[in-house]
Amino acid sequence: MAKTYGFGVVGTGFIGGVHGDAIAGMPNAKLVACCDAVEASAKRFGEKHHCDAYTDLDEMLKREDVDVISIATPSGMHMEAAVAAAKAGKHALVEKPLDITLERCDAILEAHDKAGTTVGGIFNGRFYPTAQLFKKAADQGRFGKMTFGLAYGPWWRSQKYYDEGGWKGTWKYDGGGAYMNQGIHTVDMLQWLMGPVEWVNAKVDMLAHKNVEVEDTGAAVVKFKNGALGTMACASSMYPGHFRIIEVAGDKGTVAMADTNFFFWRFAEETPEDEKVRKEYLAFPAVGIGADDPATGVTGERHLPNFADFLQAIDEGREPLVSGPESRKSVEIIVAIYRSSKTGQAVELPLKS
Ligand SMILES: NC(=O)c1ccc[n+]([C@@H]2O[C@H](COP(=O)([O-])OP(=O)(O)OC[C@H]3O[C@@H](n4cnc5c(N)ncnc54)[C@H](O)[C@@H]3O)[C@@H](O)[C@H]2O)c1
Repeated sequence: MAKTYGFGVVGTGFIGGVHGDAIAGMPNAKLVACCDAVEASAKRFGEKHHCDAYTDLDEMLKREDVDVISIATPSGMHMEAAVAAAKAGKHALVEKPLDITLERCDAILEAHDKAGTTVGGIFNGRFYPTAQLFKKAADQGRFGKMTFGLAYGPWWRSQKYYDEGGWKGTWKYDGGGAYMNQGIHTVDMLQWLMGPVEWVNAKVDMLAHKNVEVEDTGAAVVKFKNGALGTMACASSMYPGHFRIIEVAGDKGTVAMADTNFFFWRFAEETPEDEKVRKEYLAFPAVGIGADDPATGVTGERHLPNFADFLQAIDEGREPLVSGPESRKSVEIIVAIYRSSKTGQAVELPLKS
């Protein structure tokens, strides 16, 4: 019989609740504990999701029935919980971004490597059926010579979102804005489809909000290792915000995706499957997942396949689809984007420091 994994959620704010719902939807998972720095938040979550509440992570990690820690604390605090999990011999599933600097990401990867535990990231968008079809077409070489990629996240966040204070919009705990917080899903999707980035040349700015440290608008020219060019443009300054667009083109095909749908799917060498894909998935979504508010369309149901793959990976002794190193890739691209904007120069990857 397949093992049932005991989960502890760290960080019981908005996305912690989404984790709770995802865990509840899996037959081989049981949420046994939760932890938050704010006692009232941990207690509220514990009551809603029927698990024990903690304010001390080390106490929660002592529990033998906790196998996996899912981490939903502010982005620049992921490392502490992920490293503590490894030291306690627990697997860790970490929200995006893995953390906000490469040093912090590497500390997570090294700790789990040393402990022999599994670490994975959350990029729930990779698990959409359309994203899986898109990836399959890319891996099969159906685009021919890839020439251009577009990652476009035209999102909106209100001034109130930033004014509420806390960690959002701070360099220290958010690690950036339109790219590191909102746009990272978009950046990740394009690099996943088109492969490693060779260099970026970017500019970011704060254009539509007041008293916020980080950027709300950014445009990057990207050169991929396979020779293709691309654009990664992300914003939280584009009222009212709409669906993200990912497009990959080559000399034998072009696919364009709007959130969970396609609006273009054409190849020089078509198969009968292509017409089926167009029939099932050609449509524009109404607003966009997360486009106008972090909570729009972000659900446990959409996180569930990411969680399920993580447990299956542990069962099968393989890396999860969104492994720790996979989750680090978009952080590296975004750090390079920020560096390029600051220096006015193109920045080559991999970054040396
Ligand atoms: N995958 C997605 O679609 C998605 C969507 C939204 C947020 N996120 C990510 O989830 C993470 C959390 O975002 P959120 O919107 O839920 O934030 P939030 O502010 O709603 O929740 C964060 C929680 O962490 C708690 N916390 C802070 N420091 C802590 C500590 N040291 N130990 C334990 N708990 C602590 C806070 O009290 C709060 O309850 C971020 O990294 C964010 O980027 C992912």
